[in-house]
Amino acid sequence: MLRNSLPTIITDKVPGPNACVLLKKRDNALPKALCGYTYPICIKRGEGAMLEDVDGNIFLDFIGGVGVLNIGYSRPEVVKAVQDQAEKYFHCIFNVVAHSGYIELADRLNKLMPCKGDKLKTFFANSGAEADENAVKIAKAYTGRKGIICFSGAFHGRTNLTMALTAKKSYAKGMGPFPSDIYRAEFPYLYHAPKGYSEQEAIAYYLDKLNTLFDEAAPASDIAAMIVEPVQGEGGFVPAPIEWVKAVRKICDDNGILLIADEVQCGNCRSGRYYASEYWKEAGAAPDIIATAKSLGGGVPISAITAREEIMDSVPVGTIGGTYCGNPLACASALKVMDIMLEEDYAGKAEEIGKKATIFFSGLKEKYEEVGDVRGLGSMLGVKFVKTKAEKEPNGELVSKVIQNALQMGLMLENAGTHGNVIRFLVPLCVTDEQLEKGFEIFETALVKAKSDK
Ligand SMILES: Cc1ncc(COP(=O)(O)O)c(C=O)c1O
Repeated sequence: MLRNSLPTIITDKVPGPNACVLLKKRDNALPKALCGYTYPICIKRGEGAMLEDVDGNIFLDFIGGVGVLNIGYSRPEVVKAVQDQAEKYFHCIFNVVAHSGYIELADRLNKLMPCKGDKLKTFFANSGAEADENAVKIAKAYTGRKGIICFSGAFHGRTNLTMALTAKKSYAKGMGPFPSDIYRAEFPYLYHAPKGYSEQEAIAYYLDKLNTLFDEAAPASDIAAMIVEPVQGEGGFVPAPIEWVKAVRKICDDNGILLIADEVQCGNCRSGRYYASEYWKEAGAAPDIIATAKSLGGGVPISAITAREEIMDSVPVGTIGGTYCGNPLACASALKVMDIMLEEDYAGKAEEIGKKATIFFSGLKEKYEEVGDVRGLGSMLGVKFVKTKAEKEPNGELVSKVIQNALQMGLMLENAGTHGNVIRFLVPLCVTDEQLEKGFEIFETALVKAKSDK
């Protein structure tokens, strides 16, 4: 069974002949922007943490659909739930026709989401970017303010507003004009804090920078919300330190600003909690609004926005919702994914796998000068590559080589970070111990080879 197999490459190289034919057809049919050759993988089927390509090569997937496949590929109960729903109806448009899947999923998320407040409400969109757009919309509706604070290293999507919120400007090249009243503060990236600072001093330094915005960019009374990823994803898998979050929560409370947690990538059991904001809530710093997506639907597109009733009910009729939002197939999938994650303690699995992976990656850090930092939360881990530990210069070239070497041995890896010098660890949480061990072995072999490649 593919679900229990180990990586096996049977073609001379990846991509194999069938993949080459498909990729050529792709290049002819699709915009160039979608036709990179960094990941020349063409899927035939997926099961658990494993993917078989169109040439019969079997890969272990450490990318997990970039956070979508926390329960893995093709879990039979989820497939069945979607099939059963498909036999009844595909679509109804919730703004006109109610369906039970939508209501049930919202009700369950209201009980699960660690937002500030006792009575929560939820509505659905289709993607992570849409969830973030809607979170911003409801923050503006509730506060009557127009300013939004976002952070360096942030990624919030590819729509016009979320491109503006996203830090990496190569994602937005030539796409302006963008919405106004967006202000960017420095994210507390402790690895890059000023030299010699203790963690406490570094956090004070970043908070000081944030507060400067209120003097130099916009008064706090103009700001509707701050949007923060509990663990930055595209920015390099960097967790927001809890002491910083607590201070940000206080700034928000003191100034009537809402705190939005973007849990698009880190949510749905990846972080060792069902939602990473549980860590915030335990520290007395629950966010006002949570936006999530990716593993919520296990691969069927759906995203969710949750906040307390008084925020949600301040939103004018007609301003939220959309044709496909809360689609019945997606709700059926999401409900079954949630059953499985709760029954099989996927948050606990993330913690366990994360511990093993941290031991392995930290071992690499001890052994190799180029492994500069290992950080993250639960099973959302980033391994940062540098030229030298002392100077911390980004080493994206080495990361590219590691990715290519691993691919040829049947391990799928993806980069992250502003300079592409972080390898992200997003393995499906149903991975077996044997697969995980094999993945680590390939990872190190790929690294050793990359170091000696000219
Ligand atoms: C934290 C975060 N927010 C938003 C998004 C955008 O999600 P989508 O690609 O579904 O629009 C992503 C995607 O990677 C993300 O990681």
